[in-house]
Amino acid sequence: MIDLHSHILFGLDDGAGELDISIEMARIAVADGITHMACTPHVQEGIYPNDTRTIRPVLETLQQALLQHDIPLKLMCGAEAHLAWDLPEKLLSGEVPTVNDTRYLLLELPHLIVPQRLYEFVLRLKDAGFVPIIAHPERLAWIERRTDLLHEISVLGCPLQITADSLLGRFGAVAQEQANRLIETGLHLLVASDAHSPRSRAPRMSSAMKLVSSRWGEMAARRLFIEVPQMILADELLPDVRKSDMIRRRHPVSGNRVDKFFTFLRAGH
Ligand SMILES: [Fe+2]
Repeated sequence: MIDLHSHILFGLDDGAGELDISIEMARIAVADGITHMACTPHVQEGIYPNDTRTIRPVLETLQQALLQHDIPLKLMCGAEAHLAWDLPEKLLSGEVPTVNDTRYLLLELPHLIVPQRLYEFVLRLKDAGFVPIIAHPERLAWIERRTDLLHEISVLGCPLQITADSLLGRFGAVAQEQANRLIETGLHLLVASDAHSPRSRAPRMSSAMKLVSSRWGEMAARRLFIEVPQMILADELLPDVRKSDMIRRRHPVSGNRVDKFFTFLRAGH
């Protein structure tokens, strides 16, 4: 599995505090079947003043330590950038890193209030050449009221990142239900750990992948935990979502419509 959202880097945010904790988290991730991990510390003005210059040296230190400890986890640079109007400029200047130096950045939205002019902001990011991955929309307090807004953004080619623990109910019934609903939309989605520690929020995704596989099929699970993250790391554009809407309408009563959608995409449409 590929994990594109983690707070494994030590001393930068509310994730790992020390190098030993980061190493322990990496061990857990590898034992769970995670092979690649994007390190995405919070970047938020006044709260988490991180930038590429603070993030990269910690990543290099940790990657070196993992080599020394024989822990086969490939780390990649990234950030969980909080919504900020000057973000496009900071991405263009390289001050804020994208995921693995691709066009994709992990974007954190305000949890309690619907951000004003969000759609316009996403268009500005896209005009600057970047594509936001929306971090854990299922956990936003306003998702039930404004699911339409997230759908509109996803249709622009922006993937939505569901947290593995949300699928398992560890963020409550509402987040679990919203995560399930998102999977059934056929929008561009991926699952990540958003790991913060070796204990309560550990870098594990295999239980969630098994659950998705049993409920929506193995192809859907592979898509969410491996293939979409792979496409992002390779800086590939995701296919036009509107085609998925078309195929969903064509199979409105199918019990396995997500797999049909993925089959459709694999056929090269
Ligand atoms: Fe996070």
